[in-house]
Amino acid sequence: MCGIFGIVTTREQQLGPILVEAGKRLSYRGYDSVGCAVIGADQAIDLRKDVGKVEDVARRHAIAEMRGLRGMTQLRWATFGAPSHANAQPHLDSDGDMVGAHNGNVVNNVELRAEFVAEGMTVRSTNDGESCVHAVERYVKLGLGMVDAIRKAYDDLEGDYAFVIGRKGEDCLYAFKKGSGLVAAIGDGFTCVGSDLPSLLPLTRKIVRLRDGEMVVLRGDGLEVRHVSDGEVVEREVEEDSETMEAAQKGGYPHFMLKEIHEQPKVAQDLIHLLNASKHLDRFVNRLKGARNLYLVGCGTSYHACILGAVYLARLAGRPAVPILAPQFLAQYLPALGPDDVGIFVSQSGETKDVLNALQAARAKGAGILGLVNVLGSTLMHASESYLPLACGYEISVPATKTFVNQCVAFLAIALRAGGHGMEVLKDLPGLIERTLQGVDVPVRDLAPALMGQEDMYCLGYGLTYPIALEGALKLKEVTYAHCEGMLSTEFKHGPLSAVDEGFPILFVGGAEDTGLLVSGINESACRGARTVVISQEEPRLRANAHHMLVLPGADPLLAPILAVLPLQLLAYRLSVARGYDPDFPRNLSKTLTVD
Ligand code: G6P
Repeated sequence: MCGIFGIVTTREQQLGPILVEAGKRLSYRGYDSVGCAVIGADQAIDLRKDVGKVEDVARRHAIAEMRGLRGMTQLRWATFGAPSHANAQPHLDSDGDMVGAHNGNVVNNVELRAEFVAEGMTVRSTNDGESCVHAVERYVKLGLGMVDAIRKAYDDLEGDYAFVIGRKGEDCLYAFKKGSGLVAAIGDGFTCVGSDLPSLLPLTRKIVRLRDGEMVVLRGDGLEVRHVSDGEVVEREVEEDSETMEAAQKGGYPHFMLKEIHEQPKVAQDLIHLLNASKHLDRFVNRLKGARNLYLVGCGTSYHACILGAVYLARLAGRPAVPILAPQFLAQYLPALGPDDVGIFVSQSGETKDVLNALQAARAKGAGILGLVNVLGSTLMHASESYLPLACGYEISVPATKTFVNQCVAFLAIALRAGGHGMEVLKDLPGLIERTLQGVDVPVRDLAPALMGQEDMYCLGYGLTYPIALEGALKLKEVTYAHCEGMLSTEFKHGPLSAVDEGFPILFVGGAEDTGLLVSGINESACRGARTVVISQEEPRLRANAHHMLVLPGADPLLAPILAVLPLQLLAYRLSVARGYDPDFPRNLSKTLTVD
């Protein structure tokens, strides 16, 4: 996830070290490129940027030497447009009179770039941060002052982002907030702005919170907040912040896992925006449509998304696809693989060795390689003919949560497009995720004590919710250290039923279409003593039969599995914390397994 930081001082000084330190503080958000720009008392703009780590880019480009009155830094997390020097931020306008950087996604970037070129501007990259600068340039060239030009640009730039810009011949920086985080602050002889509190806290604790639709004009000796809509000044009090750096990085949540669970409405919204607005989805879908055999390859959580992807593709596009764990792909399908076959390789990190082994073997056989990946710039992204970004930003907690949800969203979008359907069903998803998280919060807390001492559990699903049962069981295993087995509900009677005795916990996950099956399964195990928990939409027959119920909001059956994973994530989290474990860093596990 990108991050921006800007500072304006009352006297020229070496701003480079301040910018580098701010960059380091933003780095927990994840990034692939770094850039810094300063504007000195002589009004010259000095811009230095590159692909790489903050420390390396700072060393290679002697950023510590940079002097000025105004400065900005940006850490880029590539979404569309490969990590490269040209795409790194900040960006200049056509004449080099302005410099700016953004955090977030401008979803009409492609259309805007074409307009800027047609209007005679110099466009140097494919990055949407550059579009923000040209969007302001367009109105400055028409004679507007900066505040009005920025207000106009705000309307032209669609998407969720925050943006900072400075111009030669002035003494201020401007920033605005439209859907992405942005906080301003006041210090002794300077003001600053950043994507989050951690980027600002060591400099000052006098914070000015900004809301969407507001801009801030920063000068060395003070700042003013204005409404973008009418340009009017807003009175906003200065708050004294007392958070620790670690608490600030967690955004007020006690763990990254909980923070990332609650980021799911936003990341789903971002991805839906992106997929609607970009040509990447069409390219991706066209490539898989012509495949003789289609394999969906991943490990762990990513594999569970592959199973759901196969169900979506069959239902919505009549397209058979084989979900397969990456190492087993080698034994089960590689010998029969040919150049007409295509694999979609799915990995949050894009670095999982098991997945890359399968990918290399498939490539050697001439098969088509598509990628579904969160970390752009990763090995998987580079090895793919075409990829879709998951657009989740950095996932810090070892157990994957928001990346799983967006893998499912991406597969649903792929299947809808491959089947020639519209994307309308996705529109409601972010709101439904929000409602589900709110609705199950208290019931999950209430349920946790009943499962507290249990060392063996089952999590059962069927059809669309089968992969959710596997994923729920994996979350519970990862962070509670208890044994929880995920299984197709109909398989339970073929063996595991013998394990059931008094109080044995079984979690049933079901869609509205599975009520009959759920009622049978609940009774089959409850009459043998099982303690049953149902995760489903409200249904009197389920409520009458189950011991506990975690209710999902009514939704299209295609969305139900994505909603059903949310209470399981929360349950795993609550049980982990209640057991005294750190859910962010479970023992023995690694976020990215780069070994065999
Ligand atoms: C590790 C992690 C899992 C993850 C799996 C696949 O085992 O602990 O949480 O699901 O790798 O990771 P990937 O980055 O390829 O999605």
